[in-house]
Amino acid sequence: MVTSSPGRSVDRVDGAAKVTGAAKYAADNRLPGIVHGHLVTSTIARGTIRSMDVRAARAAAGVIAVYTPADPLRLLPPQNPIIQIAGEARRPLQDREVRYHGQIIGLVVAETFEQARDAAALVRVTYRPHGDPLRASFAEAARDAVIPDPPWSQPVYFRADGVTPIDQALANSQVTVSATYDQPPKQHNAMEPHSAVAMWEGGRLTVYSGTQGPALHALEIAEALGVDKRNVHVISPYVGGGFGGKVVTWAPTLLAAAAARALGRPVKVVTTREQLFTVTGHRTEFTQQVTLGASRDGRLNAVKHEGVSNMLIENPTRVVGELYDSPNLHLVTRIATMDVPKTTIMRAPGYEAGSFALECAMDEMAGELGMDPVELRTKNDLTTSYPLPEASERLPFSSRHLKECYQVGARRFGWSRRRAEPRAVTDGDRLVGMGMASGVLPASQFVAAARVRFRANGTVNVASANADLGTGALTALAILGADSLGIPVDRVKPALGTSLLPVNWEGDAMMGAAGSAGTTTLASAVHTAARDAIKALIAHAVAHEASPFHGMDTEDVHYERGVLTAGAKSTPFGRLLTTTRTGGIEATTVAELKEEADRYAFASYAAYFCEVRVDRWTGEARLSRMTTVVDAGAIVNAKTARSQIVGGIIMSLGQALLEDARLEADTGRIANANLADYLLPVNADVPPLDVHFLDHPDTNYNHAGVRGLGELSSVGAAAAIANAVYNATGVRVRQLPITPDKLI
Ligand code: MOS
Repeated sequence: MVTSSPGRSVDRVDGAAKVTGAAKYAADNRLPGIVHGHLVTSTIARGTIRSMDVRAARAAAGVIAVYTPADPLRLLPPQNPIIQIAGEARRPLQDREVRYHGQIIGLVVAETFEQARDAAALVRVTYRPHGDPLRASFAEAARDAVIPDPPWSQPVYFRADGVTPIDQALANSQVTVSATYDQPPKQHNAMEPHSAVAMWEGGRLTVYSGTQGPALHALEIAEALGVDKRNVHVISPYVGGGFGGKVVTWAPTLLAAAAARALGRPVKVVTTREQLFTVTGHRTEFTQQVTLGASRDGRLNAVKHEGVSNMLIENPTRVVGELYDSPNLHLVTRIATMDVPKTTIMRAPGYEAGSFALECAMDEMAGELGMDPVELRTKNDLTTSYPLPEASERLPFSSRHLKECYQVGARRFGWSRRRAEPRAVTDGDRLVGMGMASGVLPASQFVAAARVRFRANGTVNVASANADLGTGALTALAILGADSLGIPVDRVKPALGTSLLPVNWEGDAMMGAAGSAGTTTLASAVHTAARDAIKALIAHAVAHEASPFHGMDTEDVHYERGVLTAGAKSTPFGRLLTTTRTGGIEATTVAELKEEADRYAFASYAAYFCEVRVDRWTGEARLSRMTTVVDAGAIVNAKTARSQIVGGIIMSLGQALLEDARLEADTGRIANANLADYLLPVNADVPPLDVHFLDHPDTNYNHAGVRGLGELSSVGAAAAIANAVYNATGVRVRQLPITPDKLI
């Protein structure tokens, strides 16, 4: 039913509202009688709160309440294991323990934001430090890291002959490379800080709060406050960036809701930029060791990839299992325990870090073999999925065009002009280098619910309790609705972003824009709901006395492109509903996924080709151009899909060259918790980025042929940059970010 055309490019339906400031984000909501909460955070990393003197704060102008562990707002712990892992298993204010620097230990509520902030500064705290040493050094914690309990990150050991240990298989390989790759912790730093406005009316709670999943958000808030989830209404039409940081619910929103209940007034809590670094989750630090063994002609024989993170979902060792064919695999991830702010998921968890290590190691192997890096990758391209613990069976790939990504990318970029030997090309004071890498992201989709409603005015409402975290999901929803119904996009009115829209409460816990599953999830839900709405429309057409189809058999009435026909009779749905004086006909349905979705392996792919220029005197590396070719099935909207890929590449540029959260090992404090010292790429760092989509709809996955791509370009792009830096300078930097001091 859906035609895919990578060329189709639709402006965001909410674009005008966003660029004119008309779009209301959570903190923009001003309600009558609203009061403001400001967080108080700990100034030590580990210990017990001995005392909190709140007298001065309570006496300060405008202060309404001061909540502390001694006088808390009660919050119940999360039940869902995913939430316990990606969020905070222990809610703040529920005990006197301090588990990390910058933990929430109080909330001051006042008539104005400024009064709350000033009073928060008057709270005096004394602590009893714990005697045992602080675990804030990742390098030290990594030494004691352990393999987690199932089901998390279980080791994978494949032996071609069933007996030869990996080290023997490596020793038997004609060529080996082995290296350690490190990357620092990273912060989410979405433009919109975590913030919430909460209001109670009787037993019902309304929360305005930016989230990647309004229904999951409602569920978590309800659980924490001990109320029914159906009495919590989350309103989140606009989200200023999420990247995984707004999947689970962080304490500022829970505290706003609890304070609003306690005070009987609407409460707003906005997290400051500095507080965001500690009271919401960040990406773990990693260390990884990769050893590759290959034959002289470049066939991989053994891959040993061992990684350490301190977040259970951040498993970096799975990437090779999606990319390359090797008869021997040894993949082990260990988890370190630390006294630092909570780590959570961030764009392409596991794959972001794992691809940096693996794709740099592949470049090192190509150098060792004297082989072109594209040829090495092409030679080892996987054709059937590994039976990893997550998949257990060996499945054919449904639609895999990674080799075409390499070919098209190399041509568009001009890869044939690359000089294999490092430091061979200069341009004035710049050393010029080229690098490439592969990207991959396993596909996922959730079973969501959607509603499709035909209206008498000739438009159709399409709705689901999902989120648009800035990706263009709302526009994609309009397009998917239009395609499912065969009508123009401008006749579809899409709605997302509140928990009152259709939700599949019985389905997946992650009912939102996560796992790059947003568009695929909506595609199946809308397809199913459109089918049912068409059935309901035909049933209405034959049943209603005023209808031209009245009394006919439903089988004889057909729907096509917004028009009902039977024999010579033909009526657009708008006219039908006007004639029958019916406001709308709708269906709300839980998605039916395609059976084929169980019979194949699905992933999206990318190839990156880039050029960097390194100043020979200062060591400053700059990305000067990049070509990315993407195989992600059908592209619903080329305009916003391109933005997603570009956004991921810019994050990868940060990963490669800039981002570095400085956790002080002796205090557990993040020393650069601000946007002046925590470096992010800005416009001046980003050259024109060439993005090309291949056109291979994956209709085994869903009718629209769509796979996810939101997180894809955070996988592999940093390695391409690091490989280009090596080609430019001859210096192999394996500790990110690649700062000037490492190049001179
Ligand atoms: Mo993504 S880290 O699943 O929001």
